[in-house]
Amino acid sequence: MNTRMTELFGCRYPIQCGGMLWIAKPSLAAAISNAGALGNLTSGNYNSADELREAIDETRQLTDAPFIVNITTMPSIRLPVELLQDFFRVCCEKKICALEIAGAPVDRFLGPEFLPMAKEAGVKVLHKVGTVKHAVHAQKVGYDAITIAGFEEGGFPHKDNVSTLVLLPRVVSEVDIPVLAAGGMADGRGLAAALTLGADGIMMATRFLATRESEVHPNIHKVLMEKKENDTSLNLQSLLSAFGLQVRALSNTIMKKVEEVENAGGDLTDLLPLISGERAKAVWKEGNADEAMLTIGQSVGLIDDIPTVEALIQRMIAEAKGALNRAHGMLSQNDDSWEKEISA
Ligand SMILES: Cc1cc2nc3c(=O)[nH]c(=O)nc-3n(C[C@H](O)[C@H](O)[C@H](O)COP(=O)(O)O)c2cc1C
Repeated sequence: MNTRMTELFGCRYPIQCGGMLWIAKPSLAAAISNAGALGNLTSGNYNSADELREAIDETRQLTDAPFIVNITTMPSIRLPVELLQDFFRVCCEKKICALEIAGAPVDRFLGPEFLPMAKEAGVKVLHKVGTVKHAVHAQKVGYDAITIAGFEEGGFPHKDNVSTLVLLPRVVSEVDIPVLAAGGMADGRGLAAALTLGADGIMMATRFLATRESEVHPNIHKVLMEKKENDTSLNLQSLLSAFGLQVRALSNTIMKKVEEVENAGGDLTDLLPLISGERAKAVWKEGNADEAMLTIGQSVGLIDDIPTVEALIQRMIAEAKGALNRAHGMLSQNDDSWEKEISA
């Protein structure tokens, strides 16, 4: 499957793993890249530029294939802007294949010198956005590719609540650079649908969490197989509306408490003990899925097994080919009337 995405990043298949705090580490990134997709090393896992440098080296020992590094450009106490700037410099110094920026645009959040720095180093920069407006800005300031994420996605969807099915063709019509679709992607049918809507590839995260190589407690894998598409909810609007964001997470005991605190007018000081990243870090390891805010997408409804990454990718490619063939078979042979009809 050759698309502008596989050409840009040099991967075999048009599938990327999204950033995942505490999950997207060298072993999972390498497993995904070795399977022909684009693995993700999430910089937020690390506390210093040196730690990220070591993680890049470790990933390179595990794979010769390209992988992408996520930098989440959002205000954070643990990851101040200066550290994110250092992460960006390390990625340029190490000449990694590509950077995935999620959050505010690099030119505004880190500074105008950073995108030219990446260009100079030959590092491709992709921006994950949740609106058409932000996609257009990304192209204008010089990003190489865009991921458009609908509000089905796990993590921090845009507060506009527009689905991938609508956002993807809108963005494809507005920009010329490669576009990846995210949110609701978990199998080959989604990949085929995204390609048909004009995408150059897809990005997914929850599906990669549900693989044998993701280092989480077996209970988490069990929960991912049991939960359905209506088992996640949108949260933290009161806290994140200033940034145009909200959080999609698994509906659980902690998120009920978060809602109660928000309804009672609680602020960040009240919410932080419930939503802290450290709490999630412990839960991924220890397995009690009720004890933290777990950023899971609606795509969890499409998951009912825990395959190896290699088996997942191979199955997805076969499914996508099947879905594309099926659609092709619906056309009567040599039907080219659509070209005239569209241009009319
Ligand atoms: C466990 C987990 C952790 C995540 N952490 C981050 C993160 O640190 N930075 C980020 O930009 N997105 C993060 N996300 C969001 C994903 O990168 C991606 O945008 C989203 O999950 C796509 O939707 P899907 O999970 O339904 O495929 C996370 C998602 C998951 C499932």
